[in-house]
Amino acid sequence: MELRQVFELTDSQNSYILGGGSNVLLPRYLDLTVLKMEIDDLELVDQTKSSVLIKVGSGVNWHSFVLYCLDQGWGGLENLSLIPGTVGASPIQNIGAYGLEVAQFVDSVVYFSYADQRESVIHARECKFSYRSSVFKNELANQGVITHVYFRLPKMGHYDLNLSYGSLQSEIDRKELQNIDAKMISQIVCDIRRSKLPEPSKLGNAGSFFKNPIINEVQLEELQKTYPEIVYYPVSSGKVKIPAAWLIDRCGWKGRRRGAVGSYNKQALVIVNYGGASSEDVRQWAAEIQGDVFDNFGVFLEPEVNILDEKGRKIDLKSL
Ligand code: EPU
Repeated sequence: MELRQVFELTDSQNSYILGGGSNVLLPRYLDLTVLKMEIDDLELVDQTKSSVLIKVGSGVNWHSFVLYCLDQGWGGLENLSLIPGTVGASPIQNIGAYGLEVAQFVDSVVYFSYADQRESVIHARECKFSYRSSVFKNELANQGVITHVYFRLPKMGHYDLNLSYGSLQSEIDRKELQNIDAKMISQIVCDIRRSKLPEPSKLGNAGSFFKNPIINEVQLEELQKTYPEIVYYPVSSGKVKIPAAWLIDRCGWKGRRRGAVGSYNKQALVIVNYGGASSEDVRQWAAEIQGDVFDNFGVFLEPEVNILDEKGRKIDLKSL
């Protein structure tokens, strides 16, 4: 059915668009219409000697898309292998892993606006991409739906592989791998992810529950007095990003469990549902972690996961 027809039948303000569902914490009941994005076409729009421009439907599974591109000889996305979810969701939170964010390869986004009831193309520079955020999470939240994403990808042999992330390079060194190519990076990323992150279909989780906090250098120096070993990455002048996992781990949450909810034993930033935990249980657990980290380090952890109420509105941890 055409999107326009869908919204003639459905009240857009009383509906929720679901991608893969891997980054949401849902309440037991949803008092609205859930629309599942299934647009699954992929079109090669243009190519040069060194790159391709492709238009991809929002409902395409992200990881299958990455593998398809690698098989075609199109690179760039290998560091983002095995991220759960769909193509259409990828620009919303500007998915990122192993030194790369999807923003780097998004050319533009096709957006169906509820108000105008028509599609328009939003260029990457208007998407306001930043760490795990974009215009779609802010000004355009609940204003419409992404139907397609255009990606500009380099052909293999026409770009430098991104090996900037420490654990990626150390894995390559450990395995003494030679002549690294994009497919090998994809495989290494899959191996690292499988060893550290629980598979959502086997053990309920939504990946990193919190964003890595960005603090100023004065705060960092203060923390370094007590914790000289603290890991940090410069992000802009005077600002650094520190791993939320490290803060949570130091507070003793890794591997801890209460009933059906717990913190994963191999990655402290992931909250897991062992089966039967409610949204309230998970939020309660997360709020305790947030409070503990704040009490110990004076650093506020902002959830990365979208926490929804029965009306599909985003809520924060404190709304228990
Ligand atoms: N660390 C700990 N304890 C832990 C885990 C990690 O102390 O239990 C410390 C280590 O020092 C490590 C550092 O935290 O060097 C960073 O850990 P890791 O490399 O596992 O990455 P992360 O910062 O925890 C981020 C993303 C992940 C992404 C990985 C790899 C966010 C919020 N998370 O995690 O994204 O896969 O980097 O690039 O930015 C997601 O968004 O759902 C997600 C899984």
